[in-house]
Amino acid sequence: MRTITLINGDGIGPEISDAVVKIIDACALKIDWEIQTAGADVIEKEGSPLPDRVINSVKRNKIALKAPVTTPIGKGFRSINVKLRKELDLYANVRPCKNLLNIKTRFDNVDIVVVRENTEDLYAGIERQVDENTAESIKLITRSASERICKFAFDYAVKNNRKEVCAVTKANIMKLSDGLFLDSFRNVSQNFPQIKVREILVDNLCMQLVQKPEQFDVLVLPNLYGDIVSDLCAGLIGGLGVTQGANIGENYAVFEPVHGSAPDIKGQNKANPTALLLSAVEMLKFIGENGYADKIEKALYSTFKQNKFTADLGGNLSTTEFTEAVIKNLRQ
Ligand code: NAI
Repeated sequence: MRTITLINGDGIGPEISDAVVKIIDACALKIDWEIQTAGADVIEKEGSPLPDRVINSVKRNKIALKAPVTTPIGKGFRSINVKLRKELDLYANVRPCKNLLNIKTRFDNVDIVVVRENTEDLYAGIERQVDENTAESIKLITRSASERICKFAFDYAVKNNRKEVCAVTKANIMKLSDGLFLDSFRNVSQNFPQIKVREILVDNLCMQLVQKPEQFDVLVLPNLYGDIVSDLCAGLIGGLGVTQGANIGENYAVFEPVHGSAPDIKGQNKANPTALLLSAVEMLKFIGENGYADKIEKALYSTFKQNKFTADLGGNLSTTEFTEAVIKNLRQ
């Protein structure tokens, strides 16, 4: 039996985690889920939103499935998501955005992989209040982290038969920081003559994505642009309820959906578990359980084919009903 850390999050996290565990358990794959709570709810008891036991659990098991955790906006503790990625050096955030069978969207030819640098940029958290009316944040970009993420994107392209890697920056304005990212991209690209390269400014990219998304293949971006552009790409394929993700490092991998804790629908049995389920499917492939991964994916697509959807996709199924429908298809 394989032990996997399950960070079940808050907001809709526990509801969708329960759904995904039920689906995986129903296909007879033996996983010992090591449940780790984190976030605002554990601060009072343990003094930190991300106690050491969570990090130690991922270090022990090497793999985790993670549901979203709320980060207070504008005040309060720093994001545990950012901290987890930094502590475990999960430097690559990989977010494939491909049309899903039977989910109608404006475009039917989207197949983009967003590769987001996960450890620095404005997310390094180097901020200070200069005076009462002025605050500043430092955008930290290093050659080593930029080359590492660009190499990851090219390696991913080679392994997954992708044709092009496109670097996304604003190097016309941030000539030093984004300029360094772009220079690193150009250096790394020399080692991958079989892959086409492209460079684009992030504002132009956003416009092109909502008009002609089919022209893009693998995108590699510094942290902040990657965060924003991956939500845009999620919107192209049906929204946050269906968009999976993975945080990969040299030693550990944490699989989590792109979406957040969705406080607006918390506790209403409305959340779509698909994004977390597809993140779990990628996790199963990562640990070599391809048979079970395919089985779950097929059951999910059969459910969509039967026009069974949660409310975010225009359907009327609750989280529990949708989960039961997937489990029923698993058994067929
Ligand atoms: P959000 O992704 O939680 O929600 C945006 C919209 O999408 C909401 O209307 C929500 O109801 C909907 N939505 C998201 N996931 C859904 C699902 N599975 N099924 C159906 N509808 C879904 O983004 P928001 O509201 O900006 O952030 C809420 C909190 O989540 C914040 O505290 C934020 O910091 C945190 N967050 C955590 C992440 C993580 O743990 N990796 C990632 C992104 C945000």
